[in-house]
This record gives sequence, structure tokens and C-alpha cells, in this order.
Amino acid sequence: MKKHEIIEKNVGLMALFMVLAVSIGGLVQIVPLFFQDVVNTPVEGMKPYTALQLEGRDIYIREGCVGCHSQMIRPFRAETERYGHYSVAGESVWDHPFLWGSKRTGPDLARVGGRYSDDWHRAHLYNPRNVVPESKMPAYPWLVENTLDGKHTAAKLRAMQTLGVPYSDEDVAGAQAAVKGKTEMDAVVAYLQVLGTSLKNKR
Ligand code: HEC
Repeated sequence: MKKHEIIEKNVGLMALFMVLAVSIGGLVQIVPLFFQDVVNTPVEGMKPYTALQLEGRDIYIREGCVGCHSQMIRPFRAETERYGHYSVAGESVWDHPFLWGSKRTGPDLARVGGRYSDDWHRAHLYNPRNVVPESKMPAYPWLVENTLDGKHTAAKLRAMQTLGVPYSDEDVAGAQAAVKGKTEMDAVVAYLQVLGTSLKNKR
């Protein structure tokens, strides 16, 4: 009997070797990334999200925006012509969890920061048809009515601190005051306006 036949006819042994092969393949791909600076180092001059932006990001997650919008510009001409410079790893090192997404029912938002005015975003999120008549994006009118009390904002910043985001203790201490009384709309717009802006002079 050939040696390989022994493996093929023994499910347990086969499974063991499959796991071994896949693990080695995975490790070879993944482990070097832990040690590469381009993957671990924040892009120069990048600032952590402010308390308000971080709250906006959480609302973005809650409302499922990531289900229709990616935040990942691929390095292809068709993408960079439309959205700007392709996304680099150093831009998302402080994003926990990252929101690259994979589905684009709407446009990519990785560099939407600064593309429209705050007022445009407010009108658009309140009802997208107000500014883009043919839009099929859902309306989010409650964002204007819900206000933040900031009860958990400091804890959120602290959680980010433990994950390596360089918030100072003053940032944490002032977190609640920074968001209290603001609307969810203020927070989401603040978040959208900062997206993709840390990579300077690269359109
Ligand atoms: C069901 C899919 C869907 C969901 C969910 C969705 N969007 Fe959209 N979005 C779209 C589509 C389609 C467009 C393009 C038409 C338009 O501008 O309204 C769009 C456009 C946008 C734009 C303008 C982008 C540009 O470059 O012109 C922004 C900003 C945006 N969406 C933010 C959000 C936010 C924030 C949320 C969550 C609160 C969200 N979207 C949820 C589908 C969606």
C-alpha cells in the first residue's frame, strides 16, 4: 500500500494533516504582518478620534451603515480616481473594530471627510432624498432627536486606551463633558468629517 493511501483511507489522520497544512499556510501569511511597521505604525500626524467622533462611530456601527458602505479604497485606478488615495494600513491601526466592510450598496466612505459640508450631511442623513433625489439610502431622522448623555463615553475611551490608542488621562476625564447634550446627528457628522483626513495632501 502506498504511503499516501494510508492517509487517504484514514479520516482522522487526513483531518490532522489538513489542519497542519492549513495552519502552516495561515501562519506564513499572518505572522510576518505582526512585525511589519507599515501595518502597525499610525500614519504620521494621525490623531485618535475625539470623544464625539468616537460616539459617532458607535452610532455608525449601531445603525448598520457598514452594511452598505465600505471604508477601504483599493489600489486600482478606477477606485482612486473616484474616491482618492487608496487606503493604507496605518490609517486604521486605532480602529477597533475596523469598519472596512465588504458591501458597497452606497459609495465607499474612507475619504468622505471634508467632501461635503456639515449641513449637507445633516440634510442627507435626515432624509437622503432631500439632497440626492434618486437615493435609496434609508433616512435616519431620529439622529436629530436623540441626545447623548455621555455616561459611557469615558469607559469607551478607556477601553480604547487598553487597546493601545494614545488617549491621555485628561481626554478620558473630559470625555463625558465633551459629548453631553450633543445630538447623535452631531456625533455621526463629526465622525464622517474626519474619515480619511489623516493622510495629508493625498487625493
Ligand atoms: C441600504 C443601504 C445604505 C445604508 C444602510 C446606508 N447608506 Fe449611505 N448611501 C447609500 C447609497 C445607495 C448612497 C448613494 C446615494 C446617496 O448619496 O444618498 C449613500 C450615500 C451616502 C453618503 C454620501 C457619500 C458620497 O460620497 O456621496 C454618505 C456620507 C452616507 N451614505 C452615509 C451613511 C451613513 C452615516 C449611514 C448610517 C447611518 C448610511 N449611509 C447607511 C446606501 C446606504
